[in-house]
Amino acid sequence: MNQQNRRLSKFLVGLICVLLGQVVLAQEGMPDKADPMIKSKSAAAVGKSHYLINCQQCHDADGRALANIDFIAADLTAPDTWFYGVTPLHIFRSIKFGAGLEMPPFSDSLEDKTIWQIVAHVLNIGPRENRPTQD
Ligand code: HEC
Repeated sequence: MNQQNRRLSKFLVGLICVLLGQVVLAQEGMPDKADPMIKSKSAAAVGKSHYLINCQQCHDADGRALANIDFIAADLTAPDTWFYGVTPLHIFRSIKFGAGLEMPPFSDSLEDKTIWQIVAHVLNIGPRENRPTQD
């Protein structure tokens, strides 16, 4: 493949991923916008306790998934390495409906409110500019 073709196919693959992302974001049970809780530090604090119960065994307590050897789980502190989208809605979707083959869905065990609290926690351990700032 010459370089132009390679660039074109990369662009097309990227486009397909974005379109698929939008289709899946429209799936049943998905809210159409992020809950304001994602800006709340107290929601993040509650989310942390839910995180430690539900997510720690694969993503580790600090979210970095370095110690765990059973699953190659995502490093939740580094959204630039993720595959399934990095916006609060995408994180919500990954938790509610699962991501890839090994990230289980939590739609049966966690209420949407709890999932948003966990999203706030995940944002809170990620890049500084996305962390909750309100009380
Ligand atoms: C049974 C192990 C397991 C549990 C429990 C688990 N995860 Fe995951 N998670 C994974 C794995 C493995 C992946 C990577 C999937 C892939 O890339 O195919 C993943 C991916 C993700 C992603 C998507 C990252 C990306 O690439 O876009 C997010 C966000 C996430 N997990 C958050 C959570 C949260 C929050 C919880 C708790 C509610 C949780 N996970 C519980 C194993 C787990």
